Order: sequence, then C-alpha cells, then structure tokens
Amino acid sequence: MRITVNVDGVGYTDDVEPRTLLVHYLRERLGKTGTVVGCDTSNCGACTVHLDGHSVKSCSVFAVQADRHEVTTIEGLARDGKLHPVQRAFHENHALQCGFCTPGMIMQSLDLIADHPDPDEETVRKGLEGNLCRCTGYQNIVKAVRDAAHHMRPGAGPEAEQVTEETRSPSHAGGGE
Ligand code: FES
Ligand code: FES
Repeated sequence: MRITVNVDGVGYTDDVEPRTLLVHYLRERLGKTGTVVGCDTSNCGACTVHLDGHSVKSCSVFAVQADRHEVTTIEGLARDGKLHPVQRAFHENHALQCGFCTPGMIMQSLDLIADHPDPDEETVRKGLEGNLCRCTGYQNIVKAVRDAAHHMRPGAGPEAEQVTEETRSPSHAGGGE
C-alpha cells in the first residue's frame, strides 16, 4: 500500500506492506533509529512517538495507519541545535543511565506535560506507567518531568519555553513538507 506521511517535518511517500509496523517503517525505511524496540508485547514504551501530536506506541500501530498523518520522533524535537526543554531536563537531572528507555520516556513526558502543566509526583508516575526503565529507579525521571513542566509553564519567566503546540510536538506544529 502506498502511504504519504510527514515525519519530523519531512514528507515521505512509500509503498509498505499492510502488516508493517510503524516502528519498523521509521527505523528500517527512514533510518529513524532514535525510536527503539524494547519488547514484543507492547509493554515497555521505548518505541513511543507522537501521531498528530499525541503519544502512541509505534510497535502497536501499523505504518498504514499513519497515512496522511504527522509523526514526531525523538529526532524531531531539537531545534537549531538546541535540545527541547524536556530533553534538557532529562540531561540536567541525570534521568537516564543506559538511555534505552529515554526516547520513549521523553515523548510520553511531553504528552503528559501538555495535559498536566503542573504535574505532581503521582501524576508523573501514573502518566509514565506504560514506559519501563530497568536502570534508574524512576526517581530522577520524575524529577526531570516536573522540572521540564516548571520551565514550560506559562509565566515561568522570559527563559520559559512554554507548552504550545510547537513545544508539544514541534514537527507536528510546524507542518513540514
Ligand atoms: S517496543 Fe513498543 S512497547 Fe515495547
Ligand atoms: S535508562 Fe536504562 S532502561 Fe531506562
């Protein structure tokens, strides 16, 4: 089947098999290897991307379901060499060790912050319960998400990078080709 999809702000038209999973299309056809596969049970969340600005586990979506939609991967978040505020918060709060879960954690966190601009610890833990980390014990991940939310909040000061459609999912907001 022929699909046309916008990924990280770039348009692609490709022939794919109906059974091709979105994660495999992203990694194998487009070379978006920042999105990873951590399980074969739709359990770990490592493959999380945004579809039209909302997080999905890309191992549980067929590529054909992304036809005429916009996908944002971890590779579409940084702008002009600057990390997205959620990426920066993970870095500054030491919220990763091996980093395998991190792309999915960050994509899920963005969705969480967009829905909960001032999330308490419980809200963060609940919002990330579909994303597994085998290394960190989650403590610093929770800190990073709350820190990112703080910096993205309206009125957080001139340095704030607030949650807008653009920071939620930059390539989705940008439209692309
Ligand atoms: S690879 Fe998608 S949930 Fe684990
Ligand atoms: S940092 Fe290693 S799995 Fe999360």
